[in-house]
Amino acid sequence: MTKETSLEDRFQHYVDAENKIEPKDWMPEKYRKTLIRQISQHGHSEVVGMLPEANWLTRAPSLRRKVALLAKVQDEAGHGLYLYSAAETLGADRMDMVKDLLSGKAKYSSIFNYPTPSWADMGAIGWLVDGAAIANQVMLCRTSYGPYARAMVKICKEESFHQRQGYEIMISLANGTPTQRKMAQDALNRWWWPSLMMFGPTDDLSPNSAQSMKWKIKRKSNDELRQEFIDKTVPQAEYLGLSIPDKDLKWNEETKHYEHGEIEWTEFYDVIKGNGKCNKQRLIARNKAHDNGEWIREAANAYAKKQSERKKHQAA
Ligand code: 3HC
Repeated sequence: MTKETSLEDRFQHYVDAENKIEPKDWMPEKYRKTLIRQISQHGHSEVVGMLPEANWLTRAPSLRRKVALLAKVQDEAGHGLYLYSAAETLGADRMDMVKDLLSGKAKYSSIFNYPTPSWADMGAIGWLVDGAAIANQVMLCRTSYGPYARAMVKICKEESFHQRQGYEIMISLANGTPTQRKMAQDALNRWWWPSLMMFGPTDDLSPNSAQSMKWKIKRKSNDELRQEFIDKTVPQAEYLGLSIPDKDLKWNEETKHYEHGEIEWTEFYDVIKGNGKCNKQRLIARNKAHDNGEWIREAANAYAKKQSERKKHQAA
């Protein structure tokens, strides 16, 4: 047995014994790379995820709704920075990650490439998109990489507020005028299927899942989490008096799960290839925000440089 294999075996036994891997621990290079890939994409999703909602900050129907949406968007920015920091513990460089996103090279969640034509989309995003994110992120609280698992604990607490504020918007619309009810149903129709795609391809077509499950990066598979989300969300739609846009959706008393129709995977792969309705618009907005933030980065770097020169001077 080569030294490398025994290290790999020892690593696998350590993970199997439910230990957390910390930044200074030995880890297989592929483990590190997989985590940098997943955590950086997660961080990009949080940052790009602000854009569809920011569009409605100035159009919110009341001050209360505006404040709640503002708080949510601010949380997402913090989640992005948190996740970039977690990726940095694995040796990823912050600016490299940012440049990969700005250039269009990096992936972020497909869900953020859809338009938000009505206020009801703010409700559907909080309810469905953050609801799906919570299903995934609660699972990630038990991921084998320590800093990622710990980041998820704080993020999940804030996501539940995001989901509640979204569902509350849907409750008021669903109980409002016929026009408002229609807005809520139209938003559910727009966001249902793209939310199911958030969990990734089916397990049999997921190139990363098997190894990620073995290393306990993933504790549940894409399909398991998708099913969990469907089973939890269908009764919530029924409570709203809205119908899920899936004619094949039906409860299976035997399996105690909802069966659902076929997901449009061509749309999914199209969107992640960059051909979604808003991919280009999202990247233009992200690049513009980055350019507009140049002066803040310059000022922060100048201040940090001044501070370190002062410390050197004091130490001399
Ligand atoms: N959008 C874009 N790309 C996706 C995707 C999606 N919804 N689902 C899968 N992919 C990509 C994967 O990144 C992978 O591509 P890559 O190998 O080039 O990186 C490929 O499709 C195959 O998918 P796999 O299932 O094999 O990939 P993973 O094992 O990485 O599983 C995942 C995909 C379940 C999304 C996993 O990466 C994960 O759990 N990521 C962390 C959670 C996350 O990123 N959530 C995104 C939403 S965050 C959010 O919504 C914020 C909230 O505040 C609103």
